[in-house]
Amino acid sequence: MRDLTSDTITEAVISTMRGTLDPRVAEILESLVRHLHAFVRDVHLTEEEWARGVDLLTRTGQMCTPTRQEFILLSDVLGVTMLVDALSNRRPAKATQNSVLGPFFREDRPQYADATDISGGLPGDPLFFEGRVVDRDGAPVAGAAVDVWHSDADGHYDVDVPGQVGPAMRALFRTDETGHFAFRSIRPSSYPIPGDGPVGELMTATSRSLMRPAHVHLLIDIPGFQRVTTMLFPSDDPYLDADPVFGVKESLIEPFDVYAADDGPCRGLTAVPYAVLRRTFVLEPSPAG
Ligand code: BEZ
Ligand code: FE
Repeated sequence: MRDLTSDTITEAVISTMRGTLDPRVAEILESLVRHLHAFVRDVHLTEEEWARGVDLLTRTGQMCTPTRQEFILLSDVLGVTMLVDALSNRRPAKATQNSVLGPFFREDRPQYADATDISGGLPGDPLFFEGRVVDRDGAPVAGAAVDVWHSDADGHYDVDVPGQVGPAMRALFRTDETGHFAFRSIRPSSYPIPGDGPVGELMTATSRSLMRPAHVHLLIDIPGFQRVTTMLFPSDDPYLDADPVFGVKESLIEPFDVYAADDGPCRGLTAVPYAVLRRTFVLEPSPAG
């Protein structure tokens, strides 16, 4: 373990970890050291470059607060979040696919009755969402907890809407015996991921856009089935092919059908045209279920 060179240091580091008790931790750490060293050799990392990298990671950590998780954002924009999800949640094409959870989910959300208006009175184009939750055979899944949350017409979640007190555009529903749930709200807008930190610097340096396509987040949970963390994107959004967090899947893109105020499922409920989004969510049984 003396006079180590660029040829011998990798095996030397790995040999120091031979006493790792947990075999999975041992496997992860050995692979991490091998890939990290291979990366340093591959790009011939200079001292200045490594110092800049350490500085970026330091500031990423310093930026983290209970409501701002810059490390998860870094994972999101590097595609690691969606890669881990893809490896962990392989589902048949017919089943509803996952997407990123994002930072705006809240445990402290109101539970509402079917078809409640969750917009909190915020301005925007009206949206009616009608969902159904079924199993892989198409049978309704009753009693599923369905969380929904989305941004307003300016791309802000309730926590960032100036003057907004309390929850809006977020709620928990339970599916009825036919697997149905529904709510009224306003159409979400595309919005930028936070760009005022180290992740923003990375995005600028790589000439990448911060804009996420508009979406409605959903989290569907019921014992016996795999939890679905997903979102639906309107098919006419201009940012569908440039999502900075790689969350868009073809199967999660839906048309938002627009109806005149005196037509469709909400006729008479609004004075202006409104969009309708209908979607069936197909759950896979959990491995133990
Ligand atoms: C979101 O969709 O809420 C989101 C996801 C990843 C990073 C930032 C925001
Ligand atoms: Fe979002």
